[in-house]
Amino acid sequence: MKILIVGSGGREHTLTWKLAQSPTVDQIYCAPGNGGIAQIATCVDLAADDLAGLADFAERESIDLTVVGPEAPLVAGIADLFAERALSIYAPTQAAARLEGSKSFTRELLRKHDIDHIQFEVFTDAAEAKAYVRQQGAPIVVKADGLASGKGVEVAQTVAEAEAHIDLCLEQGGYGSAGQTVIVEECLVGQECSIKVFTDGETVVPMVPSQDYKPIGDGNVGPNTGGMGCYSPVPAVDSETFDYIVNQLIRPTIAAMATEGSPYVGTLYAGCILTDQGPKLLEYNCRFGDPETQVVLPRLDGDLFTILQATVAGRLDEVDIQWTQDRCVCVVLASGGYPRSYETGKPISGLAQVAGWEDVMIFHAGTARQNGQLVTNGGRVLGVTALGETYEIARERAYQAAAMVDFENKYYRTDIAQRAVEAEHSG
Ligand code: GLY
Repeated sequence: MKILIVGSGGREHTLTWKLAQSPTVDQIYCAPGNGGIAQIATCVDLAADDLAGLADFAERESIDLTVVGPEAPLVAGIADLFAERALSIYAPTQAAARLEGSKSFTRELLRKHDIDHIQFEVFTDAAEAKAYVRQQGAPIVVKADGLASGKGVEVAQTVAEAEAHIDLCLEQGGYGSAGQTVIVEECLVGQECSIKVFTDGETVVPMVPSQDYKPIGDGNVGPNTGGMGCYSPVPAVDSETFDYIVNQLIRPTIAAMATEGSPYVGTLYAGCILTDQGPKLLEYNCRFGDPETQVVLPRLDGDLFTILQATVAGRLDEVDIQWTQDRCVCVVLASGGYPRSYETGKPISGLAQVAGWEDVMIFHAGTARQNGQLVTNGGRVLGVTALGETYEIARERAYQAAAMVDFENKYYRTDIAQRAVEAEHSG
């Protein structure tokens, strides 16, 4: 089988790594890929948003299955284009990807189908949005409705902050068309967790839960990033919480999408907050998470290709999906300055030393090869990932490897999975 993976980050390296283990996968291409992916797949010089170019490539190379990592091509309709050209793709349609592409679509779908949802209102008029904010008070959350590279959300601690974000979206065009509609919603307080599922539109099979660390600094301080580390499973997600998220939120949402004529096929990611009132849906994403994939797929005890192929064929009910009991921890090594400005092109050392370490995997996020030398090429550079029978072992392995790999201005958080180790010790 020939696979094409679309994307260039740590998530795509992890997908490539796992699919390369499949006995039925002969060749993997990745567009555009990165310096680490290039070691196990053939990188293709096509951008993830070049939908026509990707379809041409898949047709020309007789690709058996295309797997899409990032949200932008999904929301732009890559699945629809591939379907028109009879090309097999693991991806939701553009209509189904509205679950990530439009926050108001998702909240309104949940409200219409009586699925547990938080308080929210949708606005295109700034004065009306501000009046609602003043009526509700702060803290309150203001979100640009569409995709804004993770930057369109303001968790406003004051009414003035909320009003400024409304102005940025609706009056100043700060997020272009993505910000022409805003959603104002209640502020959720609690630990974050995510549960992703495989679904063929009918059968839903959950993956193991994970917890991501978004702020740049230890103790969750500083600006948000794409994710500075992650671990799985999550002690705070007990079986009752897990069942609630899967059976009361995700399954009814997938059923609602089918009822609405937009069946959802692919990976659906439920980002939740564990509040005092129970788990609440923060957002859906129409894809695997990054860096969540780096801690979830190493725990998959089986052949990912079989699962993806069955999902696309509407036969997910025929596949037995198992997970290991391992703990998995991923520590992201970032370029100093990220998520603001940072330099690239810094030579990376130490990878050969950790290459043979037991249960340690280095997933590349922002790397490139320049004149034979591996160099940094992004804000998030590497996801240093380790498995272990306890959180403590997995965490120690990951941090030992993180210390060994080096580049100028390397930065990483030192508290990833600390909370899980403490929960483990307190029994
Ligand atoms: N790590 C968050 C995301 O993938 O959306």
